[in-house]
Amino acid sequence: MNVHRNPDLDPAEREEAFEYSLRPQRLVEYIGQDKIKARLEIALTAARQRSEVLDHVLLFGPPGLGKTTLAHVLANEMSAPCKVIQAPALEKKGDLAAILTNLDEGEFLFIDEIHRLPPAIEEMLYAAMEDRKLDILIGQGPSAQTLKVDLRPFTLVGATTRAGLLSKPLHDRFGMVHRLEYYTRADLAIIANRSARVLSVKMEQEGADAIARRSRGTPRIVNRLLRRCRDYAEVKGQGIITSDIADACLALHEVDDLGLDGLDRAYLESLCGKFKGGPVGVRTLAAALGEVEGDALEDLVEPYLMQIGFLDRTPQGRRATDAAYNYLGLNQDQGPLFR
Ligand code: ADE
Repeated sequence: MNVHRNPDLDPAEREEAFEYSLRPQRLVEYIGQDKIKARLEIALTAARQRSEVLDHVLLFGPPGLGKTTLAHVLANEMSAPCKVIQAPALEKKGDLAAILTNLDEGEFLFIDEIHRLPPAIEEMLYAAMEDRKLDILIGQGPSAQTLKVDLRPFTLVGATTRAGLLSKPLHDRFGMVHRLEYYTRADLAIIANRSARVLSVKMEQEGADAIARRSRGTPRIVNRLLRRCRDYAEVKGQGIITSDIADACLALHEVDDLGLDGLDRAYLESLCGKFKGGPVGVRTLAAALGEVEGDALEDLVEPYLMQIGFLDRTPQGRRATDAAYNYLGLNQDQGPLFR
């Protein structure tokens, strides 16, 4: 069964399976992030030459930029397996102890959303990362004993959308810290073409450009829009993603020329309208929008609006820029009706 069409998967699982099948396996296949790749290439070669494990790596940046993909690429480059865990899934110290003591020599451990580790578990990581040691408490009360366990050499790759939320002791234990940047349109178009090839979808260069332009600098969005355009091309066209097909499909999904969708527009309309351009706190905005959490706005909506110059984050709160008003077709002095 083709994973892309497997009816047993729910939409989120299908998207994950789809993303997985499109993942590059090696660093040379990984598009964009050139500075990070150059630094990693040297670290990988040096580690291989010394027959050592790769230093621990922290990757940070907005969702969908390829942090998980990069972790798997690093493990592949070191010919090592990679275990993946979501930080919130670790509830007890024993959960992490079981994972760490079961890692084989050289294995990679990828901890996603590492800023969400419970503090007690985070503290366990300090000695594990630095000295490859684990203190395990056995028993309870006066007869309790601490057992020191040696761990096999491993590489921890941590990923976070918010490097600022990481404690200093944890941050300092990573040998490398890399900040992933939004991708250029040219790189997004290359990723779209690569994914189309993997999926055997026919696409014209103009179709790839149309998708890239609306993907907010984010490969995950490229792949999501590609899927929608593939459906559209198969149902409404000749199965080929042309620029007309991509334009019509993305208009149907209300993704505009800047790649902004309904939630982005609702955010800007609320900020510029109800809150008169700010400053306003993100929790207040989230409450006004309903059914969205402040975290989702901070991770998914705001970084790109800042990137394109529509939003300023100030100590007093969020502020809309002139460009945001222009985008909404509004004038900041439009008077009481809107303000
Ligand atoms: N798929 C998702 N991110 C990618 C990247 N950076 N390069 C190639 N394919 C990708």
